[in-house]
Amino acid sequence: MSEISASDFDFVCSLVYKSSAIAIDTDMKYLVESRLTSLLRKTDFADIPALLLGLRTTANPELAESVVDAMTTNETSFFRDSHPFTMLCEDVLPDIARSHSDTITIWCAACSTGQEPYTIAMSILENCPQIASRVRIKATDISKEVVTKAETGRYSRLEVNRGLPVQHLPKYFVRQGLHWDVNSTLRNMVSFKQLNLFGNWDDLPMMDIIFLRNVLIYFAPEDKAKVLQSTAKILKPDGCLFLGLSETTLNLNTDYKRVTTDHSHYYKITE
Ligand SMILES: C[S@@+](CC[C@H](N)C(=O)[O-])C[C@H]1O[C@@H](n2cnc3c(N)ncnc32)[C@H](O)[C@@H]1O
Repeated sequence: MSEISASDFDFVCSLVYKSSAIAIDTDMKYLVESRLTSLLRKTDFADIPALLLGLRTTANPELAESVVDAMTTNETSFFRDSHPFTMLCEDVLPDIARSHSDTITIWCAACSTGQEPYTIAMSILENCPQIASRVRIKATDISKEVVTKAETGRYSRLEVNRGLPVQHLPKYFVRQGLHWDVNSTLRNMVSFKQLNLFGNWDDLPMMDIIFLRNVLIYFAPEDKAKVLQSTAKILKPDGCLFLGLSETTLNLNTDYKRVTTDHSHYYKITE
């Protein structure tokens, strides 16, 4: 693995921050080197300095996007942390379904390779099937690569072994050789799109429910606050926000109040 100079490291940090708000700590040099080394294999550049020189000297938006993409951490799994999906079906959806008769729109705002939105779909089909036909799940992520994978809905044995209840495999997936494809019922409930949380949200409708899990952790406090402020603007007054286990609105935003249930907690807009 080739070493990255201090000035190249600063250049990458600044490019990634400007494009995504992902904050790379000064002690993450090794991670940047290893991610750029993986990216290198998909390009014609001889080494990391050559790749970054190419980026500095020639306008190459595609390469810049690939570098940002390579710096995203896409860790995810089916039914990750389980409680949000229980709360969704037991505490949140029944009330929302009663309060209006329209389509219920759920936004999965940093969906990575798709396990989270497909888990939302499976949870609804299992626990509140009478609502399923009214639900639309919009799943987005900044990374073109993960959105493309999520859209294909194809998972390896290792991926389906991580978190997916064993009885769900034959019920919601179709085996294709060494892979498993989500079935058409799941696929039809979810639509995918590339979207930067710091970009343009004009196309997004008002949301009933937002899943914004395990992404704020990558941002500086002022940027976490910006995203929370923006989500509050597109969440319906009786809507709900789910954050990751280690994430909170505390000291960042006052639009939300925390609702604690038997299982865990979620957030609602303050009246
Ligand atoms: C650790 S994954 C979380 C996936 C899923 N929400 C979960 O909890 O399992 C974080 C995701 O956030 C995405 N991400 C990072 N910065 C983003 C940004 N500025 N806009 C949209 N997505 C972003 C990454 O590409 C990555 O797929």
